[in-house]
Amino acid sequence: MYFIANWKMFGGLNSLNSLHKVNKFLKFLKKKSAKIIYCPPSTLIRPMSKKLKKSKIEVGAQNCHEHESYGAFTGSINSIMLKNVGAKYVIIGHSENRQAGETDKLINLKVKSALKSGLKVIFCIGETLKQKRKKRTKQVLNKQIKLGLNKINNHKKILIAYEPVWSIGTGLIPKRNELLQTITSIKSIKRNFKVLYGGSVNPKNINELKSINNIDGFLIGGASQDPNKFIDIIKKTYN
Ligand code: PGA
Repeated sequence: MYFIANWKMFGGLNSLNSLHKVNKFLKFLKKKSAKIIYCPPSTLIRPMSKKLKKSKIEVGAQNCHEHESYGAFTGSINSIMLKNVGAKYVIIGHSENRQAGETDKLINLKVKSALKSGLKVIFCIGETLKQKRKKRTKQVLNKQIKLGLNKINNHKKILIAYEPVWSIGTGLIPKRNELLQTITSIKSIKRNFKVLYGGSVNPKNINELKSINNIDGFLIGGASQDPNKFIDIIKKTYN
């Protein structure tokens, strides 16, 4: 099971103190299958990976530029630079970035560049509320996967994170059956790919979510900033 913390644009150096508690908890967690990955803002990747040198927690980034070589792109960071400061993973295609203008084509280039640099990719897909209401979820996800992962078959290096846009930060999650079906359908397009769920995962709904047995893990935003909530989610998943 994957537990991926997405800190978004939150956190300064003092936020790293919260890792101590999570680390301590993980020392006693006798679950070899538990993979814990923190994706802080880029400014914290280096100090976080230094701090986590001896920990089982791995560090990832939240986005990257599509060029894996250096270039005149003011304000951008590429996958090589992320790897250089300790990132092992990178989130690509998050709906917050899709909404800000990232196209499937650009996302595809980013995935390719990240893989080339040796990063693993957390590839996000998800439908909006409008698309869900029009019963277009399957069609939307198929397209995002087809275009975003065009000419990419590296299933061991990619995790797909299904995050319905309407569930991110809202407290809402899909109905059990809907989620089960959607995950099954994603897995039928991309066989052997691990598929995570993300969107308002918290200690209150984790029992319901974990009962959907084809989910391979969770991408956790808001609740991951609080070490107690994050620990609680992991604990409850294994209880
Ligand atoms: P949330 O965010 O858990 O705060 O809904 C999830 C995400 O955006 O990855």
